[in-house]
Amino acid sequence: MSTDGTGSGEPILQATGLVKTYGRVVGLDGVDLELYPGEVLAVIGDNGAGKSTLIKCLTGAEIPDEGTIRLEGRQVHFKRPQDARAHGIETVYQTLAVSPALDVAANLFLGRELRKPGPLGTVLRVIDRKRMRQRAEEELAEMGITTLQDVTVPVENLSGGQRQAVAVARAAAFGSKVVVLDEPTAALGVRESQQVLEMIASLRDRGVPVILISHDMPQVFEVADRIHVQRLGKRAATITPRTHSMTDAVAIMTGAMREDVR
Ligand SMILES: Nc1ncnc2c1ncn2[C@@H]1O[C@H](COP(=O)(O)OP(=O)(O)O)[C@@H](O)[C@H]1O
Ligand SMILES: [Mg+2]
Repeated sequence: MSTDGTGSGEPILQATGLVKTYGRVVGLDGVDLELYPGEVLAVIGDNGAGKSTLIKCLTGAEIPDEGTIRLEGRQVHFKRPQDARAHGIETVYQTLAVSPALDVAANLFLGRELRKPGPLGTVLRVIDRKRMRQRAEEELAEMGITTLQDVTVPVENLSGGQRQAVAVARAAAFGSKVVVLDEPTAALGVRESQQVLEMIASLRDRGVPVILISHDMPQVFEVADRIHVQRLGKRAATITPRTHSMTDAVAIMTGAMREDVR
């Protein structure tokens, strides 16, 4: 555990000894991970190091063969992504799950649409667009997301960065305890990437810890409080931008440098 202000107290999310194999391929080979309240934890590692598998196990998209996951100290057994979501773990996967034809508000409420009051809503399941648009505007304002000015615009008309903002906003909007982002800036330009990084920082500042998978070292060093380094299916180290340089991080990733794992 680090002694620099983050990485202290009780983890909100803790994985211990996660193993996941695919036939004879070892995806995860006994991985521990801790996410503490109020931090951005980056997960870095070379292609095939097990980053996505780790995230999938934490978010219910895969079931680990071995190991335990604790959320706020209690062991959880996620069998599908909805289980993790029901526990407040929201994930933005690399392949964005936005619906292009729907507007921003409808995308924010995807899967939890608000219905009209009375029998129209309860019996006929009529969607309350006006209330969804109002709530969407409130949520975006509260999150300080200024890149989405008009919540009635179909998502297909938005830029890549704005779409990413919709996905992040949806993950962050509903009382989530943890937000997980897999390569959120991979397809974005410099300015849009910067906006996403600002959203991540503002999420953290609003008290929602974030796990960020990224291979963009400057971005990781800009936004992360701690950095989990995956290598060959294992955790090679957990470092911080204050104690280690980008060169150190790459050296640990490639096995050129060894660190105390915690
Ligand atoms: N569904 C799968 N079937 C078979 N092998 C897989 C599957 N998913 C991941 N793997 C393997 O597990 C290892 C870790 O993969 P992954 O977690 O995707 O790495 P990363 O995200 O760090 O690039 C790799 O060797 C990969 O080929
Ligand atoms: Mg991956």
